[in-house]
Amino acid sequence: MAQTWTPNSWRQKPIQQVPDYPDLAALAATEAKLAKYPPLVFAGEARRLKTALANVAEGRGFLLQGGDCAESFAEHGADTIRDFFRAFLQMAVVLTFGAQQPVVKVGRIAGQFAKPRSSNIEKQGDVELPSYRGDIINGIEFTEAERVPDPERQIMAYRQSAATLNLLRAFAMGGYANLDNVHQWMLGFVKDSPQAERYRKLADRISETMDFMKAIGITSENHPSLRETDFFTSHEALLLGYEQALTRVDSTSGDWYATSGHMIWIGDRTRQPDHAHIEYCRGIKNPLGLKCGPSLTADGLLELIDLLNPANEAGRLTLICRFGHDKVAEHLPRLIRAVEREGKKVVWSCDPMHGNTITLNNYKTRPFERILSEVESFFQIHRAEGSHPGGIHIEMTGNDVTECTGGARALSGDDLADRYHTHCDPRLNADQALELAFLLAERMKGGRDEKKLVVNG
Ligand code: PEP
Ligand code: CO
Repeated sequence: MAQTWTPNSWRQKPIQQVPDYPDLAALAATEAKLAKYPPLVFAGEARRLKTALANVAEGRGFLLQGGDCAESFAEHGADTIRDFFRAFLQMAVVLTFGAQQPVVKVGRIAGQFAKPRSSNIEKQGDVELPSYRGDIINGIEFTEAERVPDPERQIMAYRQSAATLNLLRAFAMGGYANLDNVHQWMLGFVKDSPQAERYRKLADRISETMDFMKAIGITSENHPSLRETDFFTSHEALLLGYEQALTRVDSTSGDWYATSGHMIWIGDRTRQPDHAHIEYCRGIKNPLGLKCGPSLTADGLLELIDLLNPANEAGRLTLICRFGHDKVAEHLPRLIRAVEREGKKVVWSCDPMHGNTITLNNYKTRPFERILSEVESFFQIHRAEGSHPGGIHIEMTGNDVTECTGGARALSGDDLADRYHTHCDPRLNADQALELAFLLAERMKGGRDEKKLVVNG
């Protein structure tokens, strides 16, 4: 039997990726303040997401998870949130209508501020400073003062998350996501891209269907599901003091929930089974993600599954696989086989971003064709193994950035300097994200048709 869990039992364990706060009393005071603040999300919502993910685990539906690598204080604004939300909605509609599967929508947003780093130090010329660890911890500017971890930033991140969530809830429930608006979600700069025509055709078909439904009395006024959508939030649970402060008992069930976001995940660098991040996550009841990279063995994965989901509850655990386009074929099959052999219920999701990062002209970038290639392999491997390719996890923005090369506009290494704005890893722009959604829809549809063929014999 595992040892007793409490919201602070992680403090007794070894821990990776901890910021070096110079003033621990100030940190404790901030955490105490946050512990009194209202929860950002509610246990009932996290349970609803878990139920939706349970369907995906059982082969019905698809998880779309995406957003910034790192949210920033500088980019916080209504337009950025709106543009992200509509790019995300466009992807969701392509997947739902194109592949005819329910899509579970989870943003990497309203809390995605803390970043794990491969080095504690950043060197520029002869100057060495502590690495940037995300706006919730220190500043991105390369100065000594900015790089000092400041607890006050946790309060700013909390408030930004609350404001972001407030707008997202309004967009999701207040009419913006109404399917009658499907044509209006096209972003200015996507309008003249090769994706635009494909999207317009799909939107026309949706409008036609809506007109037909209207004619028989089903309208967005009398059917909330046509004008509202469920949208959930997620982030990496890296800064555990912040997470602990927002961990609350749900009065309905008596269970502990992280109320910083609906779903939280454990990064590839902090998944040691006897360490603090696994300890914290095992005790809360939210849906969890676990990043699976090339160093994860099949036995290591099974050990983590038993720690994080001992009751084998469907929807509790999403395995976010991020191997790289050239490594996925080597690593994914052995993990799938172990999980299937042991009858573990999981959602298999593909993160085609984090294993495909390269440096070009001094910029961190990701070639779009490698992203597509990892996605293609992910689908092919699942088809071959008989498991369900259940989701995608991407870094994306609604802004017209030039951070990943390739795509229909064929962004080159020389274009990267134009609009390279990310605070951490390179993101897909809305154009590239939509292109990916069309490819996904085709692959998902392909799988469904194959299944039908098998059933029909
Ligand atoms: C991330 O998702 O931004 C990240 C750091 O991923 P990983 O833990 O998979 O490297
Ligand atoms: Co990232």
